Amino acid sequence: MARLKVAVLISGRGSNLAALIDACATPEFPAEIALVLSNRADAAGLAHATRAAIPTCVIAHRDFASRAAFDAALDGALARAGIELVCLAGFMRLLGDAFVTRWRDRLVNIHPSLLPAFPGLDTHARALAAGVRVAGCTVHFVRPTMDEGPIIVQAAVPVLPDDDTDRLAARVLAVEHRAYPLALRLIAEGRVRVEDERVAIAGAAAGATALLNPSGIAASRASLTAAEPQLFVTDITASCDFFTGKLGFGVAFRYGDPPFYAQVHRDGARLNLRHVDTPVVDHARARQEDLLSAAIPVDDVARLFQEFQAAGVPFHQPLRTEPWGARTFIVADPDGNLLLFAGAA
Ligand code: GRF
Repeated sequence: MARLKVAVLISGRGSNLAALIDACATPEFPAEIALVLSNRADAAGLAHATRAAIPTCVIAHRDFASRAAFDAALDGALARAGIELVCLAGFMRLLGDAFVTRWRDRLVNIHPSLLPAFPGLDTHARALAAGVRVAGCTVHFVRPTMDEGPIIVQAAVPVLPDDDTDRLAARVLAVEHRAYPLALRLIAEGRVRVEDERVAIAGAAAGATALLNPSGIAASRASLTAAEPQLFVTDITASCDFFTGKLGFGVAFRYGDPPFYAQVHRDGARLNLRHVDTPVVDHARARQEDLLSAAIPVDDVARLFQEFQAAGVPFHQPLRTEPWGARTFIVADPDGNLLLFAGAA
């Protein structure tokens, strides 16, 4: 099977690029990333491409006297690499009409809102200010007007009462990482057609296919989107250091001097740390019988496992697929509390 040759254009962090690289690493995925292009030499995301042995190219907009000359340089690099589809992923330069027209229906973008709501910058702050109950992201074909064009895939997430822009952005970003690979797959499978500036998707249940609708949205009953387990720890400071240093959590608060209560959080997961003088769990038995202290649902469990591996996290159980289909791994904290991370296969 010939795989669709894709270029990804970035300007910064490149987490969407990383999600696309992961998707393309699956042998049966119908697209391959043949080039990663950035207008900034210091874009952190370039490292994802280098790690995956994907050719990179930096075309600095400052080196060009006009937008047209910059666009022409981009176009030349894309043509030389034989690119068939261009994915903008946090690419912070406006492309000129001529470029957009030349790549019409072969140029896609991801935007962190449910377009046509909140195009442009400061998306999450404006969504919160408007008091919307639902946020999300959109993958769309690019047209000359910014953040406008036929919608391919959208993913929705709830806006929660105590959201700030960081929390909302993190929740939306997590679904961006599913929506972009889905859109790329649909395009690469030849299922996406633009008709009267609307996208039609061929195949069964196409409408549902192009809408990622995580639990909590449009549910017929209330759904629990997060849990706040209590962990008993003998040293609040050491425990906070472990969660922040190894697991990428932040400290929400620490109380007492010396501290006897704290809360650490990452995205929707909040863990309450309660000081105890002596361990309350029989750790030998906990390990022997997999007695869990917390179960934390994750949208991309394999990626989290890789992140933790890179951080040198001690695993009680490495990543595995359970007989019922979920993928799980278990981390032991410094007090021997077993934390299960679980996601869809
Ligand atoms: C994403 O939120 C994307 O929707 C927007 O820019 C951000 C890029 O993030 N267009 P990353 O560089 O992919 O991490």
